Amino acid sequence: MQLKDRVAIVTGAGQGIGAGVAKAYAREGARVAVVDMSIESANQVAADINAEGGRAMAVLCNVAEREQVNAMVAQVTQAWSRVDILVNNAGITRTAMLHKMTAQQWQDVLAVHLTGSFNCLQAVVDGMIERRYGRIIYVTSAAGVLGTIGQINYSAAKAGILGMTKSTAKELARHNITANAIAPGAATPMTETIRTDERFREKYLDRIPLGRWAEPEEIAPVFVFFASDASAYVTGQVLAADGGMTIH
Ligand SMILES: NC(=O)c1ccc[n+]([C@@H]2O[C@H](COP(=O)([O-])OP(=O)(O)OC[C@H]3O[C@@H](n4cnc5c(N)ncnc54)[C@H](O)[C@@H]3O)[C@@H](O)[C@H]2O)c1
Repeated sequence: MQLKDRVAIVTGAGQGIGAGVAKAYAREGARVAVVDMSIESANQVAADINAEGGRAMAVLCNVAEREQVNAMVAQVTQAWSRVDILVNNAGITRTAMLHKMTAQQWQDVLAVHLTGSFNCLQAVVDGMIERRYGRIIYVTSAAGVLGTIGQINYSAAKAGILGMTKSTAKELARHNITANAIAPGAATPMTETIRTDERFREKYLDRIPLGRWAEPEEIAPVFVFFASDASAYVTGQVLAADGGMTIH
C-alpha cells in the first residue's frame, strides 16, 4: 500500500475525477476526506469507500468560502489529527464566448479554481510545515496551456494554477513539501457536452492521439504517484494524463 495511514483531503470528490482519486487513495490505505459542495454525492462516495473496507468521511464545503474551508480542515484534523495530502480538484466551468461572458461567470470560475485552491492550501500548510511533510496536488488542464474557445475564464484559472503550483513548490520545498499539478482528460459530467454534442465530438477526439476519453479510474494512478513516496524527489511539475492531447 503506497499511502498507508496517510490523511488525504480531496476536494470535488463527490463525482468524476475526484471520486476516482478518493477511491484510489483509500485502496492504497489512506484515510480520505471526500469534500464536495454536494453532500449527497460526497456521502455516496464515502459510503462506497467504507463499504469496500476503506476509511472515508464526507465533508460539505464550498472551497471558494474561506470559513467553510477552515472548518472543513479543522473537522478532518480533529478526526485524524493531521493532513498529509491535499488534492485541489474541485472545479466548474461557465462557458461563454468572451464578448458575451458576464462578470459573474468570470468571477465564479476564478473563485472556485484559484481562490478555492488557495484557501485549501493555506488551511493545511501550517500543519504540514510543522510536521515537515506534505503533498499538494493541483489540477490544471490543457485549456490552461493551449487556451480554449468559449472558456477564457477557465483557461485563465487553469493557467493561474500552473503558476500556483510552481510558487508552492519553490516556497515549500525547504519544508519537505512537494507541489505538482495534473492536467487530466476524462469522461466526466464536466465534459459531457463535448463528448456527446455532434458539433464537438469528432473534432475533440481527433485531437486525442489515443483516440478516446479516459475513465476517472485511469487518471487516478497519476494522483497516487504524486501523493506517494515514489514522487518524493519530484516537485513543481505538471503531468498531462490526457491521451496525448497536449503533445507538442
Ligand atoms: N474531465 C476532464 O476532462 C478535465 C480536463 C481537465 C481538467 N479537469 C479538471 O479536473 C477537475 C475535476 O473535473 P471533473 O471532470 O471530475 O468535474 P465534475 O464536474 O465531474 O466534478 C467536479 C466536482 O466538484 C464539485 N465542486 C464544484 N464546485 C465546488 C466548490 N466550490 N466546492 C466544493 N466542491 C465543488 C462538484 O460538486 C463536483 O462533484 C476540475 O478541476 C476540472 O477543471 C477535468
